[in-house]
This record gives sequence, structure tokens and C-alpha cells, in this order.
Amino acid sequence: MKGIILAGGRATRLRPLTKITSKQLLPVYNKPMVYYPIQTLAKAGIKDILVIVAPEYSGQFLNLLGSGHELGVNLSYEVQEEPRGLPDAFVIGENFIGKDNVALILGDNIFDHDFSESIASFTTGGRIFAKEVPDPERYGVVEFDDNNKVVSIVEKPKNPKSNYAVVGFYVFDNHVIDYAMNLKPSPRGELEIVDLHNKYLSNGNLDVNIIEGMWEDAGTFDSLLRVNNLVAEKIRQGENL
Ligand code: TTP
Repeated sequence: MKGIILAGGRATRLRPLTKITSKQLLPVYNKPMVYYPIQTLAKAGIKDILVIVAPEYSGQFLNLLGSGHELGVNLSYEVQEEPRGLPDAFVIGENFIGKDNVALILGDNIFDHDFSESIASFTTGGRIFAKEVPDPERYGVVEFDDNNKVVSIVEKPKNPKSNYAVVGFYVFDNHVIDYAMNLKPSPRGELEIVDLHNKYLSNGNLDVNIIEGMWEDAGTFDSLLRVNNLVAEKIRQGENL
């Protein structure tokens, strides 16, 4: 299993914090944000990691992380010239992925969940992850059956079919490269991850694993502040984050 961290994007919602640097380099308590997705992958047993960055900040990522040796991982880098959408990770990552399966984590998603079992038990198809939330209408919501097979995924539904929000961690078999290359941009001009999910879903090949614990998307002022406080509290209590 290879790992990809998607750490490009425009981060418009965090301006002016992101006027001269990347969102994923901003502090989350005691470390730059990108350390967390690296650690999440490493904890799951994934050590070969591609970091996809925006052109303006590629040098900063390289200066900070280098080979990844200090963090116990092997890092490669690619530049995403334009934020073309999440599935673009598999187009950019084609050579890096080779013939392997791949886990994608969004560079601004902070977890304390241990994904190792889900990675170790993965064989083929697609696997998404969901967390129970009080306000599912704000997220992509997944409906699933007793065998954890996905029934539907609906983006920001008015009447959610479940309380489970899809989080920014996805596992796919090698077909994902082909599927991503054949996607067409949506009306907002981006390749959409839900179109990849629906491709696996229509093949009857998409399951969902439920995660516990902290999950934050650190993309707004409020969520960035919240995740800083959550991480600070966990570290003060002796958790190894
Ligand atoms: P978003 O938070 O959806 O987008 P953004 O980071 O550009 O922020 P904003 O909406 O405030 O302008 O992106 C989620 C994560 O995925 C984030 O870590 C950036 C990354 N990303 C890319 O690297 N490339 C892309 O093409 C997209 C759409 C996102």
C-alpha cells in the first residue's frame, strides 16, 4: 500500500494566514499541520508517501520534511499546477503508485484514529471512512448496510440518510488510476472524489469503515482553532500525537 498526502489547494478560507505559505504548513499546536497526516499514514503501516504540493510552496515542504527520514517515512514529491480536484492525486501519482493499492489522505485532515486494521484487511475495490456527527447535513453523508457495504453517498443532504460523515481518508485498489484518468470535471470545474466513489459503488465494490476519536478538517478559522486546542489538550494528557 502506497500513501498520498494531498497538500496543495488554494486555502482561500484561511486568508490572510495562507497568503505567504501553505495551509498544511500552519501550526497545529506543536507541529506543522502536515506532520499529522504523515503520522496517520505511518501509524497505519504506510511508509512510502507522495506529498502533492502547490507550486508556490514546494520549496518550503522540501525544506521542512526532506526525505522523511526523521519521521520514519520515505517521501516523494509532486507539484499540482492547479487545484483540479482530489482525484487528480491519482493522475499525478500514477508512476509513484505503480501496481500497488493506494491510500489518500487530505493534508488538512487531522485524525487520532489508528487505520492499521483497515489497511491490513483491504484487498480490492474501494474503502471509505466515516464518523458519526451531530450535523451530517454539513458533510458528504454515507448510507450503508449491515455488511458495511455502501448504499449511497450524498453531498450535504437536506434529509441525511445517516449520521455518518465521509472523512478525508480513502483507500483504493490500482484501478483508481484508470478511473481517475477518465473522470470529467463537474460544473464547478473540478474532478470530484464522489464520482470515484460512485464508480466503485456501481461495481458493488465500495465499503465503509467507521472511525472513532478525533477528526477535524482544519480548513477554516474555527476548525483550525478547535483542532489546535484539541491536540494541545491530548498532548497535555500524555497522548502520543
Ligand atoms: P479544500 O479544503 O476543499 O480546498 P482548499 O484547501 O483549496 O481550501 P479553500 O476551500 O479554503 O480554498 O481541500 C481539501 C484538501 O485537499 C486540502 O488539504 C487541499 C487539498 N487539495 C489539493 O491539494 N488539490 C486540489 O485540487 C484540491 C481540490 C484540494
